[in-house]
Amino acid sequence: MIIYATTEGHTRTISEYLRDEAEKAGHSVALIDSTVTPPAPDEFEAVIIAGSIHGGKYQSALKHYTLEHRETLNGMKSVFLSVSLTAAADEPESWKELRQQTEDFLNETGWQPAFTEQVAGALLYTKYDFMKRFLMRVITKRAGGDSDTSKDYVYTDWDQVRGIMQKIEQD
Ligand SMILES: Cc1cc2nc3c(=O)[nH]c(=O)nc-3n(C[C@H](O)[C@H](O)[C@H](O)COP(=O)(O)O)c2cc1C
Repeated sequence: MIIYATTEGHTRTISEYLRDEAEKAGHSVALIDSTVTPPAPDEFEAVIIAGSIHGGKYQSALKHYTLEHRETLNGMKSVFLSVSLTAAADEPESWKELRQQTEDFLNETGWQPAFTEQVAGALLYTKYDFMKRFLMRVITKRAGGDSDTSKDYVYTDWDQVRGIMQKIEQD
């Protein structure tokens, strides 16, 4: 099962990609939006939980699910797929913060996934409303990133995403 939380849709795109890869490898996969009360994990062989960071935090639906099912998750194959823009940058200080945000989430929920994968997200300027576009442009420009708001930028390394399936199979 892949459970995803998304704010602008990119984590859903990554999760769909992962589902397609898993199906190609012969697995049957349930892809579930975290806002529609996902089933308990014990019906599945492995669970991938994916979410994105906004203002330093993951979506609260992920927190609710992992808190409720942590014991089952900790006793099975489970993986945390964390999506952020920080993961797209080569900035040691920002990476330190990102790792701390992930650790805080795992500490708060008591969930101990087999591994966490930090995946680079996207800047979807054309999909944002005016305020979000403005805010993201200011932040990104200050950091020396892509700031042409007539375009979308996807930084996700799809080979890395594909590699998650292999890691789970080998685990
Ligand atoms: C309003 C806003 C706040 C964000 N805050 C953070 C942040 O604190 N740290 C980070 O690394 N990325 C941040 N991002 C980048 C998102 O994590 C990235 O765009 C990701 O692809 C979003 O995934 P989603 O479309 O599944 O929600 C932010 C993006 C937006 C639009």
